[in-house]
Amino acid sequence: MSGDARKTAEGLSYLTGFGNEHASEAVPGALPEGRNSPQRAPLGLYAEQLSGAAFTEPRAYNRRSWLYRIRPSAAHPRFTRTANGSIRTAPFNKTVPDPNRLRWNPLPELAAGTDFLAGLWTLGGNGDATQRAGMAVHLYHANASMERVFSDADGELLIVPERGGLLLHTEFGRLHVEPAHVALIPRGVRFRVELLDESARGYVCENYGAPFRLPELGPIGANGLANARDFRAPVAAYEETEGPVEVVNKFCGNLWTARYDHSPLDVVAWHGNHVPYVYDLRRFNVIGTISYDHPDPSVFTVLTAPSDTPGLAGVDFVVFAPRWLVGEDTFRPPYFHRNVMSEYMGLIEGAYDAKTAGPGGFVPGGGSLHNMMSAHGPDRETFERASAAELTPQKIDDGLAFMFETRWPVTLTPHAARADHLQQGYDDVWRGLTPDFRI
Ligand SMILES: [Fe+2]
Repeated sequence: MSGDARKTAEGLSYLTGFGNEHASEAVPGALPEGRNSPQRAPLGLYAEQLSGAAFTEPRAYNRRSWLYRIRPSAAHPRFTRTANGSIRTAPFNKTVPDPNRLRWNPLPELAAGTDFLAGLWTLGGNGDATQRAGMAVHLYHANASMERVFSDADGELLIVPERGGLLLHTEFGRLHVEPAHVALIPRGVRFRVELLDESARGYVCENYGAPFRLPELGPIGANGLANARDFRAPVAAYEETEGPVEVVNKFCGNLWTARYDHSPLDVVAWHGNHVPYVYDLRRFNVIGTISYDHPDPSVFTVLTAPSDTPGLAGVDFVVFAPRWLVGEDTFRPPYFHRNVMSEYMGLIEGAYDAKTAGPGGFVPGGGSLHNMMSAHGPDRETFERASAAELTPQKIDDGLAFMFETRWPVTLTPHAARADHLQQGYDDVWRGLTPDFRI
């Protein structure tokens, strides 16, 4: 038996990372009034705090939620190791960091019966999960819904679907996620992925560091970029199932499994700010030039995971959304660039305005990696087209690309470095950028 189906759609707004409290109850009266841990929680529930920040972190950064559940999480059997599949975790030191520009085609076809967890494939990453620093880039493909339940102690998971809808059954309720949405599962929150289509494909940023939050807006003002009101948290919904449920826990790089005698998705009410959420990238308020040149792509930051150094993100999630280009006397596509930050780019739909050529191309489900200080930018065809274009107002509306931009180089997993779908000859897209120097 589960909670009222009418209460299972996502519905609450959620202000990312600014300490706002949200609350939801699947049954009226399940949420205690006025205290977190009453002597007896309502309706015979167990009260449990889930801490996503140290107790003493500043209020603006503190993350925790109170869960009122049918059974306490502590009542579980012993976990034992299970195979990690294609999931790998930082530190990534099985290959030498590669300064070359790299690009992959989409993941190859997969075997029938592959669920989201079995279909997670780690491209690479940086930092050290045990130090709660750094990030990993994963891709996923799946053709079966999860029967088991998963949680990640190593970090939060930013899920970027590229193909196929997902229904995320979480401890906090259900989130409906489609391509062009992103969903975030906080560290330690248990969830199960149900496929809403025959198959699903996409990207995941596993962030070991400080949680994603909205970037500061500075002179932009009080509005713009991703607006807090568009982040939606689930409404409480619970499963009251008896019988064996496999629960998989990712901990310091390894998967551990236990067989529960009930579903751990049995939270009847909750309040707090360590909460899953979904965001529709089409709601992003894109800001750009109305004179000349264009701002750095940091102006497209949806979410940022800060480091200990102000302004230096552990990882930023950046979206290249439909927008108007109006810059006068300006080379309008992204400029040639070398960056101390490392850039993994993926494509959710359509095309990206700086990448048109090359073997296999930059296609939805594929991705590119431009590691620290690697030179990149428009390919030859884009350069020639944009250099000669008539600069009338132009709408870029045929694609949705994103970037995980991270403070440290991304070191590949061996299976990403040797993958058949790693393109050969990506460098050739910049071939033919011949000297045009004249005196
Ligand atoms: Fe760049």
